[in-house]
Amino acid sequence: AGQPKLIVVADAEALAQAAAERVVARVVANPGRIAICLTGGSSPKKLYQLLGSEAWRGKIPWDRVHWFIGDERFVPESDPLNNMAVAREIFLDRNAPPGHIHPIPTTAESPDQSAEIYARELQAFYGSDQLDPARPLFDLVLMGAGPDGHTASLFPGYPAVEETTRWVVGVPKANVAPFVPRVSLTLPALASCREMLFEIAGHDKQPILTRLLNGETLPAVRARSNGGTLWLVDQAALPEGIRG
Ligand code: 6PG
Repeated sequence: AGQPKLIVVADAEALAQAAAERVVARVVANPGRIAICLTGGSSPKKLYQLLGSEAWRGKIPWDRVHWFIGDERFVPESDPLNNMAVAREIFLDRNAPPGHIHPIPTTAESPDQSAEIYARELQAFYGSDQLDPARPLFDLVLMGAGPDGHTASLFPGYPAVEETTRWVVGVPKANVAPFVPRVSLTLPALASCREMLFEIAGHDKQPILTRLLNGETLPAVRARSNGGTLWLVDQAALPEGIRG
């Protein structure tokens, strides 16, 4: 575990560039099968655009990379709120082999059932239903932080945050918009990675980043990789006192 490392960049553009470099570095570091856990929300969109761009797509060995998602809104794939649908449309569908895209299914009867199905898919991919600290599930986990300090769909005070055994859980009610049920990977599943990378950019994030840096025990602070955790932030998100 260990403290997250803070990396400050100029703006959202520089942040997406830095994140794309981390993705490529992780991919290059692993000569075998690679697993990347994507995230939803608006923060990673620039990164996804970059990864699909002419300048970057050639740096990724698409036939060796598998793409998962850390949380999903329980809405059909055709709904613009669907996190994986956004990633697919921006960069995955044009680049990744179809069998390498692993969405959280939202056609199940309930978020709980969808969580169970996805847990089984992750466990089949990993080859075990027990996480081995010596063998991380993911090479890289991308994360964002919401205004209430949530990350993935782990909202402060929710039982999902305290889950210690299940890898994926249903979250019946969101704490912030969009107010649709969610399905989320849990802290232990997300922690099983070589690197966890938070993208936190823009002035809107300043209040929550201030609280996170103060070490409040919010889900976004408790989310730590067993490898290394990086908080990639831009100047606009930094608290006034520590701006460069
Ligand atoms: C989701 C996300 C969530 C997100 C934060 C930040 O499904 O909403 O996975 O954890 O990363 O809420 O969202 P923004 O990037 O939109 O600020």
